[in-house]
Amino acid sequence: MWTFPKSDLKYRLTLRVVAVSAVCFAAISAYFLFDADRSMRARIDTVAEITARTLQLQHGKTQWISQPRTDFPDLQDIAGSVMMPGLCMAYRDSSGDILQRVCGGPPGDEAAPYLFAVLYRNLFDPGREVLRPVQFRGAQVGEAVVSVDPATLTSQAWRGAGRAMIVLAIALPLLGGLVYAALARALRPTRLIRAGLERIVADDLSARLPRFDLAELSAIRDVFNHLAESLGMALAERNELTRRLIALQDDERRHLARELHDEFGQSLAAIRALAASARQGAAQGGSDVLAECDGIARMAGDMMETLRGALFRLRPPDIDELGLVASLEGLVAGWNGRSRGQSRFDIKLSGTFEDLPAELAANLYRIAQEAITNAAKHAGASRINLDVAVREVETVHSDCPSREIELMVEDDGPQNDRPIKSGMGLLGMRERVAALGGALTFETGPGGGSVLRVVIPAEDAHGLKAEVAA
Ligand SMILES: Nc1ncnc2c1ncn2[C@@H]1O[C@H](COP(=O)(O)OP(=O)(O)O)[C@@H](O)[C@H]1O
Ligand SMILES: [Mg+2]
Repeated sequence: MWTFPKSDLKYRLTLRVVAVSAVCFAAISAYFLFDADRSMRARIDTVAEITARTLQLQHGKTQWISQPRTDFPDLQDIAGSVMMPGLCMAYRDSSGDILQRVCGGPPGDEAAPYLFAVLYRNLFDPGREVLRPVQFRGAQVGEAVVSVDPATLTSQAWRGAGRAMIVLAIALPLLGGLVYAALARALRPTRLIRAGLERIVADDLSARLPRFDLAELSAIRDVFNHLAESLGMALAERNELTRRLIALQDDERRHLARELHDEFGQSLAAIRALAASARQGAAQGGSDVLAECDGIARMAGDMMETLRGALFRLRPPDIDELGLVASLEGLVAGWNGRSRGQSRFDIKLSGTFEDLPAELAANLYRIAQEAITNAAKHAGASRINLDVAVREVETVHSDCPSREIELMVEDDGPQNDRPIKSGMGLLGMRERVAALGGALTFETGPGGGSVLRVVIPAEDAHGLKAEVAA
């Protein structure tokens, strides 16, 4: 069927329904025309048959009573019973002359339009004559000729078709109007759907659609409402994350300021006091100068250690340059150094790490860093283990095995039944893992303590979706 580039759906469907109805109407009218023609032919055939038989009888009668054939043929006698408007019957003798012709009067119908007349004439051949032989003693003496005036037949057909056209002219616009109104009513909810979408576009995520009668529209409504809800939740989560990010930034600054004040301020004050005392001692030729210089050196050493720790936290090692293995080992060594024997940090690595994509390695480092920091900060544990394994796994869909990475951080902290409230750290880890197509669990271990377990498919991570920059 034809298409309208940007037209209204109701208008388009209405036009199609009207067009299909018009075709049906035309087909029905054509059927009636053919049917009328068929019955007219049958009638003419019957009239021709009757005429020929009657003429045969008339001819026979004239022969038997051996009178001159003055009253043969007598078509008026036959016409009385079978005549109709436009019908012509004639008798043609064996030499081909028409001896008598009788025609019915014109019907008085209005003439058909020219185009219709031409079409009808071409389709039905309305003027053709029907011939029946008139015989006597086995020999043909003439023939009965019956026909109907083509103009009469055409105008009769036009009368029938004209009626159909009037019905069509009234029914089709009416049908169009009804179809349009029904469609407009059925599609009214689309306006609501559009309004809802526009509200979503304008950031109003509270937009919800009401129930609709039509099942198709109800399905759209369910999807719409679900989408709006998920979008709202995602937006709320994003806002919460941003809020926490800002809070964390402030925390970090406060922490740095405190560290600078507590560690550096006090140490510098102590160094200054020691330096002043050493100066005084040196001026008086005292013997404590050496011990005071040692004190200054020790304090400067402590400050350097603190500074290294702070810098390490602020800017982690470049994993690209060091490699993941060395970076993780450095991380654990750093914690062992800082904890001064209060907790022990162990690391176990297995598998090949060299060919892991850079972003994946950076994300793994960040996850391990946060998990170990958590264990050190919250668990109160004496042992903290970091296990990272790269291993091959069988896949159902493909013949070649793929790889996955498992990262576990276990601690032996005391059992804690308090429900865990995710902070920025856990949330950030989950985001990273989700972006890498992996899974994260954080549970209580078999012997108390906590176990954080992360599994990431390495092949997925090759086509890294992770926009999560390290
Ligand atoms: N290894 C752990 N042992 C005990 N509690 C933990 C551990 N890791 C995390 N938690 C709990 O989970 C909470 C959320 O951690 P996190 O999201 O990293 O936030 P934050 O470390 O900033 O408090 C912590 O406040 C802590 O109560
Ligand atoms: Mg944390």
